Amino acid sequence: MNEQPQNKPAEEGVSRRNFMTKFWSVVIGGIVSLTPVVVGLTFFLDPILRKRKVAGGESAGSPGEGFLKVSSEAALPADGTPVFQQIRKNVIDAWNTYIDQPVGSVYLRKTEEGGVSAFNSECPHLGCTVSYVDSSKQYKCPCHDSKFELDGERTNEIPPRPMDELDVKVDESGDIWVKFQSYKIGVSEQIPKN
Ligand code: FES
Repeated sequence: MNEQPQNKPAEEGVSRRNFMTKFWSVVIGGIVSLTPVVVGLTFFLDPILRKRKVAGGESAGSPGEGFLKVSSEAALPADGTPVFQQIRKNVIDAWNTYIDQPVGSVYLRKTEEGGVSAFNSECPHLGCTVSYVDSSKQYKCPCHDSKFELDGERTNEIPPRPMDELDVKVDESGDIWVKFQSYKIGVSEQIPKN
């Protein structure tokens, strides 16, 4: 009858040891089974992480983030006639890099003030590519007849806003750099597409 109270601490010690053994088994087992998952996730997400690392760094020698070298000052006529220039760049999605892809186009021209201007050639009406008409010294869209002056201003009410002017820089060696950007079409405000 008196033996039960004497065995109780020994039983408690055994059950505590069992609990700790099970606890550490679960913890260590969890770490071991999660390791391949973490390694796999790191491998899977690596392209996305890498994309963030290279963002803004694809144009070596760029005078600013996002600027692409597109032409040279020597290639522009001195009389201010616009020159159509396709824009190409490396396009990176999460898992692939597509080298030198066309992403849009611009009109470059020497301005009366001695600088260089750049306009996105995409019509702000519905997105067709505008043409330059030398006889009228205007830009004209072949789709619905939007027209623009050389400074991008509208000459009729078809387009909802002027042509989209882009940031442009000319470096000391005469290379022209454009910060290419597309904007939403069909709206009066300039809203970046991405
Ligand atoms: S898309 Fe240019 S006028 Fe409509």
